[in-house]
Amino acid sequence: MPLVCLTDFEAHAREQLSKSTWDFIEGGADDCLTRDDNIAAFKKIRLRPRYLKDVSKVDMRTTIQGEEISTPICIAPTGFHCLAWPDGEMSTARAAQAAGICYITSTYASCSLEDIVATAPGGLRWFQLYVHPNRQLNKQLIQKVESLGFKALVITVDAPKIGNRRHNITNQVNLMKNLLLKDLGSPEKGNLTPYLQMSPIDSSICWDDLSWFQSITRLPIILKGILTKEDAELAVKHNVHGIIVSNHGGRQLDEVPASVDALTEVVAAVKGKIEVYLDGGVRTGNDVLKALALGAKCVFLGRPILWGLAYKVRVAK
Ligand code: FNR
Repeated sequence: MPLVCLTDFEAHAREQLSKSTWDFIEGGADDCLTRDDNIAAFKKIRLRPRYLKDVSKVDMRTTIQGEEISTPICIAPTGFHCLAWPDGEMSTARAAQAAGICYITSTYASCSLEDIVATAPGGLRWFQLYVHPNRQLNKQLIQKVESLGFKALVITVDAPKIGNRRHNITNQVNLMKNLLLKDLGSPEKGNLTPYLQMSPIDSSICWDDLSWFQSITRLPIILKGILTKEDAELAVKHNVHGIIVSNHGGRQLDEVPASVDALTEVVAAVKGKIEVYLDGGVRTGNDVLKALALGAKCVFLGRPILWGLAYKVRVAK
């Protein structure tokens, strides 16, 4: 049976992947209310179609941070792509390049950044940073991504502590112990850091720390995880270049608003001064249209990308 929508890919991935991998990808924090709201909130919005417009030729190209993409649908940062397919992030990078879209590579990529770039040298990539408590390590990582040609630095702000994901707590030992993070080890020693031993995310980061990041990189800085007009105004005040309205796919703080419900107030607060993007619960073309109509410049997909990688299992058999 051909798979015709993302829900089909989701069901297929569930069959292919081990239970612990499936739980890791699909899981949200606590009762998963926000994860599920992300989808439900899109479904509550209705379109107001206008007709008698020439749609015989449709051009979906747009730009983000001045770079052209073929369509306003890009790839959100997710860790450990090798769980879904052995080639992991290298496959993702090739697919993004072929599609002409932006791929935000996670700090928790399971392939090295060099390999990701080498496999798709012409692709547009941004780098997502979980701020490490060791400033020097952040600096080295940022300089490395800059020299590797990544075009923006996405700082995730909604993970000062890792969300309470119940399935992961149950499955963690099975799933994570052999995962290696090739870029989180000390760059001088070139060592690999097992997931379980990796350093915690810096939970002390505040607005005033952004100027340090701005002082060490020329890359535009984008904040991922903003959900309120107050923080959107602060983001503009601190001269960041973009905001991703996101609740981390409902994996961090549960019972915060669905991304699309938070979008309108963030768009209104930035008054067109910086670009606003969205991730969380985007599953159909209509969802994309709704997010764009409410002011997002483009949307990013999280879990569906991992379902797509898991589909390769079937194709390769
Ligand atoms: C994530 N997300 C995430 N975010 C981030 O900033 N850095 C990361 O390493 C990860 N890792 C990650 C792993 C997995 C398995 C998932 C599902 C999510 C969050 C991600 O970028 C995005 O915000 C959500 O996934 C978007 O929601 P949807 O599209 O999954 O509904």
